[in-house]
Amino acid sequence: MNKKIGILTSGGDAPGMNAAIRAVVRAAFGEGIEVIGFERGYDGLINDEHVFLDIRSVGDIIQRGGTILKTARSEEFMTEEGQKRAIETINKNEIDALVAVGGDGTFRGALDLTKKGIVVMGIPGTIDNDMGYTDYTIGFDTAVNTVLSAISNIRDTASAHDRTTIVEVMGRNCGDIALTSGVTGGAEYILIPELPVDVMAICTKISEAMIKKKSHSIIIKAEGVDIPTMELADMLARSTGMEVRTVILAYLQRGGSPSARDRMLATLTGKRAVDLIRDDSGSRAIGIHGAKIIEMDMAEAIKIKKEADLELLRLIEILSC
Ligand code: F6P
Repeated sequence: MNKKIGILTSGGDAPGMNAAIRAVVRAAFGEGIEVIGFERGYDGLINDEHVFLDIRSVGDIIQRGGTILKTARSEEFMTEEGQKRAIETINKNEIDALVAVGGDGTFRGALDLTKKGIVVMGIPGTIDNDMGYTDYTIGFDTAVNTVLSAISNIRDTASAHDRTTIVEVMGRNCGDIALTSGVTGGAEYILIPELPVDVMAICTKISEAMIKKKSHSIIIKAEGVDIPTMELADMLARSTGMEVRTVILAYLQRGGSPSARDRMLATLTGKRAVDLIRDDSGSRAIGIHGAKIIEMDMAEAIKIKKEADLELLRLIEILSC
């Protein structure tokens, strides 16, 4: 009998989720496997809100941000009752394996299902790049490029007006977007949630820069850093006498057409998910190490914590002279 896959996207949307859906549907078609998509993440699974996905239904989406299946952070799925109903939906629709595209919350939900006997393939989709078992998550590269383009514009104005500008980027617990966009955008200072903020050190650096005839600075601050952006701006302005402006990029950096790297990661992980289901490999978390697509046990993958690359902060110290 032919197999059947259910797919959902969950948590914050990330550019490349659509490319992953497309890859799963078309690779499955090649294997004679049927695919249905659950809408709004685990909520759709609980309420059996699904659509049939054939090869045409995923046409013209590879370039689109967001997710055609919509997404949600399901509170109901965190309850025993919610998970029981989700499993009923899976059984009722005779689904052999679920593909869950999302971040760490999505994977924790997937692990709960695997413990109850459901086969789940986890595909990492979040702009935060906060999953320790994989080098990259789908959406991160696009988000960083969006931030970079914003920094370039902001830099023109900061330079023209001799101002310091704090650019707040996303990342509640993980500073990867801040670190990567800060280093590649030539920022003077990067603040990440993994480290405490030393406001005096920033003031000293800006003041020293002024003495060295550097009249403007860009500070990249992740949203999870434990000082509000406006408060930081006031403190810096008072201490250095410089004009300080703030830009909060928020959802500007979460949407948009996925970059080539994100489309590639989505396509390769989507295809691998289908191969693993075809081969009855059991539940796996799929990711990338270097240039190689990898897969591992879901419980093990969740245990691996992401660590900030502090070398990049030291590099900023050297290069932002
Ligand atoms: O998980 C991605 C992310 O964009 C985080 O960077 C951010 O903290 C969070 O989602 C915001 O979530 P929401 O859109 O649900 O408020």
